[in-house]
Amino acid sequence: MSAPIGVFDSGYGGLTILKELKKQLPQYDYIYLGDNARAPYGTRSFETVYQYTLEAVKWFFDQGCELVILACNTASAKALRNIQQLDLPNIAPGKRVLGVIRPSSEVLGTFSKTGHVGIMATVGTVQSDSYLMEMAKFFPKVNVHQQACPMWVPLIENGEYNQPGADYFVKSYLDQLFSQSKDIDSILLACTHYPLLEAKIQAYLPKGVKIISQGNIVAASLSQYLDNHPEIAEKCSQKGQLQFFTTDNAETFEKQASAFFGQKVEAKHTDLA
Ligand code: DGL
Repeated sequence: MSAPIGVFDSGYGGLTILKELKKQLPQYDYIYLGDNARAPYGTRSFETVYQYTLEAVKWFFDQGCELVILACNTASAKALRNIQQLDLPNIAPGKRVLGVIRPSSEVLGTFSKTGHVGIMATVGTVQSDSYLMEMAKFFPKVNVHQQACPMWVPLIENGEYNQPGADYFVKSYLDQLFSQSKDIDSILLACTHYPLLEAKIQAYLPKGVKIISQGNIVAASLSQYLDNHPEIAEKCSQKGQLQFFTTDNAETFEKQASAFFGQKVEAKHTDLA
């Protein structure tokens, strides 16, 4: 039996990843789930993010998914390891759950000439130190500077990312990041919501600093993973179909989603617990 690839985020952000998955791997089917009713996750405790994410993963398994991507840095930081090590062996040993932090860390160091990179992320992702740990494995000589941006997701989820009010918080968090080091030459948007602020971020970024988004990195990494794991790839259905679910109101989701996904979507409501 084959089934769609599950793509999960706390809200709309994972759609920026799904957009790239669809571009690079259009042959596969995908089910997207946004836990909009409980977003944002970024300021929630480890236990809460783990519990919510596990509920979502079980929901995907109930839909038959064999492979689930946590297209959310916060969920990847706070829940992925437990799910992979403690839950999967008991509930679904043959199924796979992957995140976005490892694939991003595998390449981030290659973008920097100065050996100083910036990580813009939610409070939860920063506090987990997941990027510091992963980067130490792949690029031990690169200096990683983290900056929590707690106001960015609320601005984006509320459709305020193009408004003048957003400028204050974009500039403020960038100033805080660059006060850690003037040598940073690449910044990773380590929250799947942040690509919507890219134009404003670019406007306040010191000259010559590159912005790295995760969508194409995660898609390229998944493509390679499926090539290396044909036994998983053959369990992923290939009709090029997309389905969208939200734990909140489906009409609201449809209205907001196109800004993240680049095209209109049809969504259905689902409950998780
Ligand atoms: N999009 C999620 C991420 O990549 C976080 C959004 C939230 O705070 O819920 O971290």
